[in-house]
Amino acid sequence: MGQIIDGKMMAQGIRDEVAKGVKELQRKMGITPKLSVVLVGGDAGSQVYVRNKEKACAEVGITSETIRLDASIKEKDLIGVVNKLNEDSKVHGILVQLPLPKGLSELNVLNNIDPKKDVDGLHPVNMGKLLKGEGPYFLPCTPQGVMEMLLSTGVEIKGKNAVVVGRSNIVGKPMAIMLLEKHATVTICHSRTNDLPAECRRGDILVAAVGRPKMIKGNWIKPGAIVIDVGMNRLDTGLVGDVDFEEAKEVASYITPVPKGVGPMTIAMLLKNTLTAAGRA
Ligand code: GUN
Repeated sequence: MGQIIDGKMMAQGIRDEVAKGVKELQRKMGITPKLSVVLVGGDAGSQVYVRNKEKACAEVGITSETIRLDASIKEKDLIGVVNKLNEDSKVHGILVQLPLPKGLSELNVLNNIDPKKDVDGLHPVNMGKLLKGEGPYFLPCTPQGVMEMLLSTGVEIKGKNAVVVGRSNIVGKPMAIMLLEKHATVTICHSRTNDLPAECRRGDILVAAVGRPKMIKGNWIKPGAIVIDVGMNRLDTGLVGDVDFEEAKEVASYITPVPKGVGPMTIAMLLKNTLTAAGRA
């Protein structure tokens, strides 16, 4: 049976480090890091994520505010809110919770965040710097958390076949680039991939980020692979990942659970990025 990568425990270690860093920044510079979260509309999942982010900030001493806006807000007014946060020297990190309601362009809104406050790493400047290997101001939180989990296994990434299932801007694409930076041979799969099980079976490292409950079966996994499950699917029976955990854990060398896997690491990386932003300010 594979070893479980305990994201909750790893995240706690990072949160402790961030809490120390916050205290130090306050002592040396008199600065308290502040994160502003913009939440538009009433998406149920987003409400939960945002509440978790607020709680996590409070726990490590980061000031957070959530600006809740009606789904009917005009795009230019939303951009106005973002611009005010850009100009506010007390705000170090800005996060616009996604998805935005219909009619609001994520592209236009994210493009207006100051890249130096873009703790989500989703601004084109940050994504472009990542793609070019130039060192972005911030890496997107989820793939950054996944990399920490991979490194924690002590398994060398160089030369391995890494298969990323999912091509979102928020996870799949940056994940693939970050694995490439570590010299993996990377395959990106998606809904149009021919013979997805066969592609998955080539992965020494398999990252699942598709949003389909338990899609990836035990017999899709190369024996001894490291399996990272980014899926967060809310079913009546509870939260499940994209990987059939019970099957997969029998085949994998290391595997992340859902819950208590990648999710807590994403939040820990957001805290870390916010501390970094405040430290640079
Ligand atoms: N929605 C789901 N995950 C995320 C995230 O990491 N950042 C933002 N901004 N929105 C999300």
